[in-house]
Formats: sequence, structure tokens, C-alpha cells
Amino acid sequence: MFKNGFDTTRTISVTSGKGGVGKTSLVCNLAFELAAAGKKVLILDGDLGMANVDIFFNARSRLNISHVLENHCQLEDIIMEVAPNVHLIPGGSGVYGLSRLEPMQKHLLLDQVSRLNKNFDYMLVDTAPGIDDNVLYLNAAAQEIMVVVTPDPSSLTDAYALIKVLNQRYRENRFSIVANMVRDEQEARMVFKKLSDVAARFLCVGLDYRGFIPSDLNLRQSNRNQELVVRTTRSAPASVAIRGLAENLKGSERFTEMKGGLQFFWNQLSGVA
Ligand SMILES: Nc1ncnc2c1ncn2[C@@H]1O[C@H](COP(=O)(O)OP(=O)(O)O)[C@@H](O)[C@H]1O
Ligand SMILES: [Mg+2]
Repeated sequence: MFKNGFDTTRTISVTSGKGGVGKTSLVCNLAFELAAAGKKVLILDGDLGMANVDIFFNARSRLNISHVLENHCQLEDIIMEVAPNVHLIPGGSGVYGLSRLEPMQKHLLLDQVSRLNKNFDYMLVDTAPGIDDNVLYLNAAAQEIMVVVTPDPSSLTDAYALIKVLNQRYRENRFSIVANMVRDEQEARMVFKKLSDVAARFLCVGLDYRGFIPSDLNLRQSNRNQELVVRTTRSAPASVAIRGLAENLKGSERFTEMKGGLQFFWNQLSGVA
């Protein structure tokens, strides 16, 4: 299935136990920063109920995955370049369909994915929050599961619940954590410590601290204007932090992954692997 015998796209799902913690903001701004650093990025909008990645890029999609699955068009036709080197697969509620494909549909989809295969350095998957199986399988297919948490106690307990379910149901045992809407790095480290302490006590999982994004009105305002803070206000604290996250990701590229990349992701989704 691999075109060149290897699959080098890094796949990262961005997820959370609770909604409204900043997943979509992170996915979009991070994608933009990675692209600005010369990477080719694909975003899969996997939030079933609230697919809004296109809005963050001030783009509007007519087609989504469901049109591909219904054979109205090709995967290529629905992918939009929403910023230079940032490509979007509008998924939305069509992502539900991926978990129950007919054999013929699987074949069709995977064939189309394999043709995209070698082009992307990163695929970022924006997911719906929570522990619904319709969401979890997106995380289980990605190489890195990036859990976004905020200092809000319910965000922490919900993140813990999510990690627990992914561990018990899907045998996932590594998670990277991003603390969002924190005062500063110190608070981010505290949030991380709280989560990793309970995880270490009750679960057999490893959590890695990936970084933080401070609470920043610039980001909120940019979102409201359907803009990306990293584009409008490069010096904003949130922009600086997101650039740091992009650097951090690029810095860890050399580590070999346990799972395959883009092809593996889609194989998993459609139940082939
Ligand atoms: N670091 C931040 N500082 C200030 N506001 C933020 C920050 N991150 C997210 N927000 C705001 O929180 C709300 C939810 O963000 P969003 O990215 O849509 O979250 P999710 O995708 O997890 O539901 C939005 O209004 C967004 O502007
Ligand atoms: Mg969202």
C-alpha cells in the first residue's frame, strides 16, 4: 500500500476530556507555525459535532469526508489549502462513517490516502472532547496523543478519565500534555504534575510535558475575528508559546515512532490494520 515503501508523516491527535479547552485554537495555530517553518501540514477536522477548523482559517468547506465515502468525489477534491502549506480535510460528522465502512469503501479510501501519502510532514487531528468511542478511535490511530488541559479542576479530572479509557480500552500508554490558559510556565508545570501524579498512582501510563500556552486575550480576539493569533500578533505571549511548541515538536522528530504514520492512521480508522 505504501507508495515508496515508507510512511514518514507524523500523526498527532489533539484531544481533551472536556470541551472548550483550546484544541482547535492549538491545532490551527500550530499548523500555521509548522508550515511557516517549512513543514507541509495536513489537518483532519475530526470534531464530529463542532467541526470549525475551516472557520479559524476564514475558509468555508462545502464538502467533507462523507461525500468521499458516498463516492460523490475523491479525497483530493475535498482537501483545501487554507494557508500556505496547511491543508485541511473537512471531516465533521462524516468522520462517524469511517468506523463503519463497507469493504469496497475501505479499499477506495485507503487507495486515495496512499496517493497523498508522501506529501505531508505532519497530520494534526482535531477531535471532539470526551470518552465516546466515536472519538477515541481517532486518538488510537495517531502516533502521538496530545491531551490539552487547563487549570480548571474539571478539565483535569476529565483528562484523567480520557487517559484511563484510552489506556484500558485501546492499550495506549504514552500521552503528551499541553497546558492551556495558564498564567505562566510555573502554573503549567503544576497542572502537569497534578495530572501525572494521579496517573502514576492509578494507571500504568507515561505522560510527557509538551509545553503550555498562556491565557492571552490576543488569542481570544483573533479567534473572534476568524484569524490566527500567530499570524495577527506574532509577539503575543500565546504566539510565542505556540512557536515554542512547534519547535519542540520539530526537535523530537528524530525519535522513532512505535506506530506508523499516515497510512497506518487511515488503516486503523477503517479497521484494516
Ligand atoms: N490560551 C488562550 N487564551 C485565551 N483564550 C483561549 C486560549 N485558548 C483558547 N481560548 C478560547 O477558548 C475558547 C475555546 O477554544 P477552542 O480552541 O474552540 O477550544 P476547543 O476546540 O477545545 O473546544 C475560544 O473562545 C478561544 O478563543
Ligand atoms: Mg474545537
